Amino acid sequence: MTKDLIAEAKNVLRLNDRGAYTVPTHGLYPFQWNWDSALSALGFVHFDEARAWTEIDTLMSHQWPCGMVPHIIFHEHDDGYFPGPDVWQTARPVATSGITQPPVSGYAVARLMDMARDKSLAEERARALLPSIHAWHKWFYRTRDPRGEGLVAIIHPWESGRDNSIDWDAPFAAVPTDGVEPYTRRDTMHANPDHRPTKEQYDRYIWLVQHFRSLKWDTEVLHDASPFRVVDPGFNAILIRSCAAVAELAAALGEGEIAKESRAMAAKGTAALDQLWSDTRGQYLCYDRAKEEFIDSPSIGGLLTVFAPIPEGRAQAIADRLNQIGKTAEFLVPSHDPVAPEFDGARYWRGPVWLIMNTMISDGLAQAGQHVMSQRLMDDSLRLIEKSGFAEYYDPITAEPCGGGHFTWTAAMVIDILYRQEQVA
Ligand code: GLC
Repeated sequence: MTKDLIAEAKNVLRLNDRGAYTVPTHGLYPFQWNWDSALSALGFVHFDEARAWTEIDTLMSHQWPCGMVPHIIFHEHDDGYFPGPDVWQTARPVATSGITQPPVSGYAVARLMDMARDKSLAEERARALLPSIHAWHKWFYRTRDPRGEGLVAIIHPWESGRDNSIDWDAPFAAVPTDGVEPYTRRDTMHANPDHRPTKEQYDRYIWLVQHFRSLKWDTEVLHDASPFRVVDPGFNAILIRSCAAVAELAAALGEGEIAKESRAMAAKGTAALDQLWSDTRGQYLCYDRAKEEFIDSPSIGGLLTVFAPIPEGRAQAIADRLNQIGKTAEFLVPSHDPVAPEFDGARYWRGPVWLIMNTMISDGLAQAGQHVMSQRLMDDSLRLIEKSGFAEYYDPITAEPCGGGHFTWTAAMVIDILYRQEQVA
């Protein structure tokens, strides 16, 4: 069974392989996505190490001079996606979007290094990647934490990677829709519209893109100029974990300055994260920096926080919270608490389970010594795959496969989970 699953997962990766990068899935997402690539490398590494490194090299080679790594790289022309390069107009040599995504590459590079059988190749590739990943991390704390609080904000929901999360509903009210140029959505031609964001949300996504475009994509000013500025604990946890991973790797490779700066960023971020803890909810919450108020929304962002080195007591509380959610969800981890009135089991980030989230939360729980819950998340993930294949995401109650099919990072996570299972056994 395990062998068959690995073979199937590899086929998905090959199907979406475009040589030096993978597309998340044919049709719906025909370009390279930032965190999809970083996480997909964790699948490739088990059967083609050089290819795994290339995935991250290609991504990082499109870094902007300011340090930002864009969320989409439009390598080849394709009319099947909106908004394309003509909407973003970022004036890059190879067209890219103008916003970023969760910076998980630092973590991925450290994992590739750990798993490498070809250590000299790994050292060479990791050494070459470290300065650019480090520059990206510094860009975050410089431009997205202008007051030096230790927490970075996202300025567009797409940056979170959790595009239509319930977390963004309240802060989205501050984003106007007047002046949005007429457009035709393409996503709903590839996937069931009931599984996708609504028209109202799309108008606001596009308003923000047009607004940033009018500011010439100057990333030094966009934070303060955006009506949407939200501190997402899960996003910050990924950044912190990547800084910590880069710190260790840099120390091992004799890159003292990168190690020191990365350690400092991780420590400051970890300490600041605690401000986002909610005793009432028993998890972390998002904070609306524009309105200066907490967003009382029990989403997966506040659980993913265990991916960072948070205190043991907090990790225990997150494991308890997952236990509680597991009473209503057959499959963990739903992207929103099923007992919340806004929960929607099939609509993207408003309820469905995503395997990348399960893998990162499971990894964080294991690091914190929460092995029982960590194992449950891996088991639930494999049960979903066996029942419903390599989908983009799944209904946490019925296991219905939703969104796109033959999904790259879902397949990569299956390979990674099976590898971890072997290690545990
Ligand atoms: C959707 C997801 C995002 C992902 C992208 C490509 O936009 O919300 O997290 O990176 O698809 O798979």
